Amino acid sequence: MIDIHGIEKLCGGRPVAIVGAGLVGAGWAVVYARAGLNVKMFDANPEITRKAIPLIAEQLAGLRRHGLIDEAPADVLARITPAATLVEAVDGVAYVQESVLERVDVKRQLMVDLDAIASPDLIVGSSTSGIPGSAFAMGLSISPRVLIAHPVNPPYLVPVVELVPSPETSATTVDFAEALMRAVGQTVVHVRKEVEGFVLNRLQAVLLREAWALVQEGVASCEDIDKTVRDGLGWRWSFMGPFETIDLNAPGGVADYAARLGPLYQRIADSRSHKQPWDAALIRQVEAHRREHLPHADLESRRAWRDERLMEFAAAQRRQ
Ligand SMILES: NC(=O)c1ccc[n+]([C@@H]2O[C@H](COP(=O)([O-])OP(=O)(O)OC[C@H]3O[C@@H](n4cnc5c(N)ncnc54)[C@H](O)[C@@H]3O)[C@@H](O)[C@H]2O)c1
Repeated sequence: MIDIHGIEKLCGGRPVAIVGAGLVGAGWAVVYARAGLNVKMFDANPEITRKAIPLIAEQLAGLRRHGLIDEAPADVLARITPAATLVEAVDGVAYVQESVLERVDVKRQLMVDLDAIASPDLIVGSSTSGIPGSAFAMGLSISPRVLIAHPVNPPYLVPVVELVPSPETSATTVDFAEALMRAVGQTVVHVRKEVEGFVLNRLQAVLLREAWALVQEGVASCEDIDKTVRDGLGWRWSFMGPFETIDLNAPGGVADYAARLGPLYQRIADSRSHKQPWDAALIRQVEAHRREHLPHADLESRRAWRDERLMEFAAAQRRQ
């Protein structure tokens, strides 16, 4: 639920900036613009910013079609302005959503550049999928005002955001980011210690690790593994987490579940402790299988299909 008054109080009428206008940056622009904020969008490659605008227009049209925004898409789009330089993007903004390449050197250089030009109260949230802030955002005067705000792609359709402070991030910065994320309609998860991959990608890593291993060992095909999650685990996970799932899966709740099945899960974990399934031959095998089912040229249209499904899901959630 978008909280216009909360946004006004936090940002005081100032815009926000997106730095890095690729897949995730463009998605963030939708999040902030649909919440009523003016958004300045900058990418080191101007061609990417140029391409992002029609893409965002399509995304907004989809949201409107599914009843997920009340405003005309053109009015939301009018709040997003391309910026030609980083200085222009950051000038006068309350918050920067960093969404550049997932590389420590690129993110560090950007922090150094921001440090040189940022106003004394500018807050920066990094979209990084798994690099802790201590690897690129320490030792600068801006450091207390930088934290990780990791979204899921696309952020305007999947609401969760992980907030991860570095050891130098101030409590005020975390409070600001939490209030901003809530006000623009995202769901906040606090990651209280810096770990690579944070919580979401660590959970995903465990599932993927097992999926690769099961294919490698010939236990099941890629298709059947996808089916197991799509038509099995994913049904419950679309509205409850793993702890609530197991709490409901034994007559006496979670402790009863642990007593009954804990040893099985322990044996499974032990059986995986030394294997490394992400090897090149295995990746080639899974890639060949996926391209048989989905040719490379169709990836883009399948992403659009996924986003349509997510919008139907979001609309159904909203009706509930
Ligand atoms: N794709 C995902 O599913 C996903 C999900 C969550 C978080 N993320 C994270 O979001 C960030 C962006 O990922 P993406 O998938 O959008 O990548 P992307 O390659 O689509 O976009 C990155 C953009 O950053 C631009 N860029 C590079 N250096 C820059 C600089 N110094 N200033 C301005 N722009 C610069 C590039 O030109 C590029 O357009 C990464 O940190 C990634 O890990 C990605």
